[in-house]
Amino acid sequence: MSAIRRIALVGLPGSGKSTVARLVAQRLGWDAVDIDDEIARSSGRSAASIISGDGEAAFRDLELIALEQVLRRPDPLVIACGGGLITTAAARRLLTELTTVVWLDAADEVLIGRVGDGADRPMLGGPAAAGIPQLRTGRERAHQAAHIRVSAGEAPEAVATRIATAVDGAIRVHLAERAYHVEVRPGALDDVVLHLPGGATRVALLADRAVRAASERLVASLRSAGIATTVVDVPGGEQLKTWETAGRMLARLGTAGLQRNDCVVALGGGTVGDLAGFVAATYLRGISWVNVPTTLLAMVDSGIGGKTGVNLPRGKNLAGVIWQPRAVICDPEVLATQDDRSFRSAFAEIVKYSMIVETSLVTDLDSSLDRLLGRDSDALTGAIRESCSIKAAIVSGDEREAGNRAVLNYGHTVGHALEAAAGFGDRLLHGEAVAVGMHAAGLLSVQVLGCPSGDIDWQDEMIGRCGLATTTVFDPGQVLDHMRADKKNVGDRLGWVLLEASGRPRTGVTVPEAAVLGALDAVRAR
Ligand SMILES: NC(=O)c1ccc[n+]([C@@H]2O[C@H](COP(=O)([O-])OP(=O)(O)OC[C@H]3O[C@@H](n4cnc5c(N)ncnc54)[C@H](O)[C@@H]3O)[C@@H](O)[C@H]2O)c1
Repeated sequence: MSAIRRIALVGLPGSGKSTVARLVAQRLGWDAVDIDDEIARSSGRSAASIISGDGEAAFRDLELIALEQVLRRPDPLVIACGGGLITTAAARRLLTELTTVVWLDAADEVLIGRVGDGADRPMLGGPAAAGIPQLRTGRERAHQAAHIRVSAGEAPEAVATRIATAVDGAIRVHLAERAYHVEVRPGALDDVVLHLPGGATRVALLADRAVRAASERLVASLRSAGIATTVVDVPGGEQLKTWETAGRMLARLGTAGLQRNDCVVALGGGTVGDLAGFVAATYLRGISWVNVPTTLLAMVDSGIGGKTGVNLPRGKNLAGVIWQPRAVICDPEVLATQDDRSFRSAFAEIVKYSMIVETSLVTDLDSSLDRLLGRDSDALTGAIRESCSIKAAIVSGDEREAGNRAVLNYGHTVGHALEAAAGFGDRLLHGEAVAVGMHAAGLLSVQVLGCPSGDIDWQDEMIGRCGLATTTVFDPGQVLDHMRADKKNVGDRLGWVLLEASGRPRTGVTVPEAAVLGALDAVRAR
């Protein structure tokens, strides 16, 4: 995980790569480099003369060398790529792994108008009117590797502003297969269209009925970009995450005619995201999806990491796959309508992050909790961004939860069991259960690992200031049974995530049964 520090602009001749690169760089205060200029500087020859003299293959080799050199520079960069660079497999791999690739796309007529007779563009092989459509066909697949697709038909200033806005403050999550973009910004809802796969012509929007205004706005922006959009509006909530609903959604995708290049967009809380991701993962053996979370919990937690799935009668999230979204777009403005109880419950996860990693969230929470609870847009944007960064960093290192990702389960051993015992409904929300679970895990951390009790006092104070309880009513026998049945346990061994101190979690800790019973007793309200 990291902030975005390299943008590479790709596109057909006339798409404005060099001009837009300079303008984006100006807006972000970064440097701009042009690969063709780099080659000209090192070889003393223009791209046109190398291609006509030595052939295209020789030029592609020089391009790759120039790209490698540019990518070694330490400063943030906007790179204008030669149009054919992305068609070379090695260059495409470097670009998609090490940069955020932006495809500047415009209609053939626009490009032809800009390129004129194409005299200085050897790859056109003649007049632009014939060359552009031919190049488009040849490079279509390569362009589809881009992370972001921007309409380059407008003035370069407007195109540059759009790119700079989408990238400024965004986070890049790097996972084994693909890097993706996490945007947290008021107004980001209108940018979803930038993150669709390059070849997408259809979208199935799985939208929570509770966010109708946001859904209408999103549909309007998708349709105005020429994307055929089928809206499947669903009632958010745990009852949505069933095998049957997933089956119905898959059938809807089929009826809507979605193809492999098309995309599912999830607009809703964690339940909509989990279901939509699962449906996207299984339709045609997996198509792309973009997650647009609309609850605070989904923004700070479930939106990132690619865990998707549905519940089974035996328990929660028991059927599913890891299927990373193409992008996660968080627009804090949509939180205005979330009800106070579920909004506050998400703070359990934010407090959790501040306990499992060393983060500025600790001081931020102390000073800005009241502004956060009052839904101040700047404070929320900052806290969501930091939470996303933390989750992204943890997930990036361990996509399939083979190791360190388990630290995210701090407070969840007891929390999940409480939720299960309460029937996964409104009686006890996920965050409320996690708050109680963190209190229990905190007590055990002091007892078993010698965690300073002041660290846990701070945690409990924050939980209290968020309006969350550290105790709840439950049947201890039932909760113990659920803890033993949790799918995260290997065999009969219950592995706890506890803290050696704030910011220093340890996973797989074995805790004596008597201590577990003691902790459960301490968090049981009577
Ligand atoms: N995939 C993961 O990594 C992961 C992590 C944590 C939790 N989860 C899952 O997330 C789910 C919980 O997510 P949640 O808390 O977002 O619950 P949710 O999706 O049920 O949303 C809560 C309620 O808020 C409504 N809602 C959503 N956005 C709204 C808005 N902006 N304004 C008004 N109402 C709105 C919904 O309709 C619903 O009634 C659980 O199923 C949990 O298992 C998944």
